[in-house]
Amino acid sequence: MSTSLRSAQWFGRTGKDGFIYRAWMKNQGIPDEEFRGKPVIGICNTWSELTPCNAHFRELAESVKKGVIAAGGFPVEFPVMSLGETLIKPTAMLYRNLAAMDVEESIRATPVDGVVLLCGCDKTTPSLVMGACSVNIPTLVVSGGPMLTGRFEGRDISTSDVWRFNDAVRSGAMTQEQLTVAEACMCRSRGHCAVMGTASTMACMVESLGLSLPSNAAIPAADSRRKVLAQYSGARITEMVRENLRLSDILTREAFENAIRVNAAIGGSTNFVIHLLAIAGRMGVALDLEDIHHNSAGIPLLANLQPSGKYFMEDFYYAGGLPVVMNRLGDRLHRDAITVNGRTVGENVEGAQAWNPDVIAGPEAPFKTETGLAVLRGNLCADGAVIKPSAASPHLMRHTGRAVVFRDIEDYHARVDDPALDIDENSVMVLQNVGPVGYPGMPEVGNMAIPRRLLEKGVTDMVRISDGRMSGTGFGTVVLHVSPEAAIGGAIALVRDGDLISLDVEARSLTLMVDEAELAARRAAWQPTHPTVNRGYVQIYQRHVQQAHLGADMDFLRGGSGSEVLRDSH
Ligand code: FES
Repeated sequence: MSTSLRSAQWFGRTGKDGFIYRAWMKNQGIPDEEFRGKPVIGICNTWSELTPCNAHFRELAESVKKGVIAAGGFPVEFPVMSLGETLIKPTAMLYRNLAAMDVEESIRATPVDGVVLLCGCDKTTPSLVMGACSVNIPTLVVSGGPMLTGRFEGRDISTSDVWRFNDAVRSGAMTQEQLTVAEACMCRSRGHCAVMGTASTMACMVESLGLSLPSNAAIPAADSRRKVLAQYSGARITEMVRENLRLSDILTREAFENAIRVNAAIGGSTNFVIHLLAIAGRMGVALDLEDIHHNSAGIPLLANLQPSGKYFMEDFYYAGGLPVVMNRLGDRLHRDAITVNGRTVGENVEGAQAWNPDVIAGPEAPFKTETGLAVLRGNLCADGAVIKPSAASPHLMRHTGRAVVFRDIEDYHARVDDPALDIDENSVMVLQNVGPVGYPGMPEVGNMAIPRRLLEKGVTDMVRISDGRMSGTGFGTVVLHVSPEAAIGGAIALVRDGDLISLDVEARSLTLMVDEAELAARRAAWQPTHPTVNRGYVQIYQRHVQQAHLGADMDFLRGGSGSEVLRDSH
């Protein structure tokens, strides 16, 4: 057993090298037999007090360790870069690829035979999974779990209310004092955002890919069963090492198709697209926007969760959680896809029952029929754009309007509430230079707040188009991820005030209604206006980040390098 373990290349050695590898472990008070010859399980921890959603992860890691030890393994916890959505400037997405590099190299460089990824806040899931994919040793994900539902002035709230509160304060319907009280009412427990935002979407993604134990996605962070799941996960990863069950055994094309279909059924975040494409790129699985569209099409929305619906993640768990949704999708899923517990998807979800049909509907009477993520094409987005129909307004799904263009986010902030701005509810708001290269880092600003003047008139939604992203907690008729982006001369850079833009979600089209000769003239005169950075990681990022339709990973990070260490000598 010990000779087949990767860790034996460190701890099983004789001579000076073996002495060094073991002696410095012993300074932690660890006896020889504790780690020599046992599966060494890395616990990749994104704990940080600057990532509040993951601030309980040291406790969670202790539960994983108990499971590893009980199963005869040796747990070692290690930190990696942690990306907290709320505090990191200019945007956590700028650092997703950097964190993934940290994870990849941290796993490869150290004597771990298997790894548990502790994931929570939005980017901490894709960055850890991407990095682990490029190493491809046995890997299992434990999510931190959502917060308990917030409670404010007698009603349930969570992160999607941030947008409503913002509009209410701007229109005078809510005071600044009420807003301050709402802060503590919303974030009243440990865990990540309590709606089907990006963090919960990512937790559902890993569960539907087969990378976590069943029910991982929805157990609230504060629920004691979260620790039980973590302990079971520690035991299971130790077994996975003995079975040599690796990521490449689980992350097949069928697994990715399952994840896309499940994401449609739960009304998952648009950020799902960009992260799933990046993960597929690491695994060498051919996946593109058309796969996202075609696998989403026709999948009914079964989960009635904010921002597409009414309920919260806590309700979702009590109603049965993701296994129920997956069970109800029946043969729409590849039920024989293998998962981390060694069982198939079909075996895992067999018999899962819904305890509240208002939260999880059946396919015969779905919550909504407009679901998933629609991929748009047209001369405004030659390489595609994304919209989330379930979170959009039906009356705007087919709409033609005059463009009101903001050349960057600063321009938007400076002019959006200017009484002189020529805009009405039929206008199409266009935001340029918020893509991967242009911002840089592709921030979540695509769901631009509506001009105050229109809010006061009762306008609650408008068509908005950008090369940026939207928070998974956001909603509205918002076209995102326009590719190619403005900063590299995509057609979105050529839009001018007053141009007609036509959106038709059913026909999957997004058209800039300007003739080709005029567009060619504008293209010839176009000059980039985005900031460029000439130092450090951000310089590397701007030079190497790929466009949104490829997952916005670095070009040199696609694929993997396996678990072999390049040079193996002191
Ligand atoms: Fe961390 Fe929403 S801010 S999940």
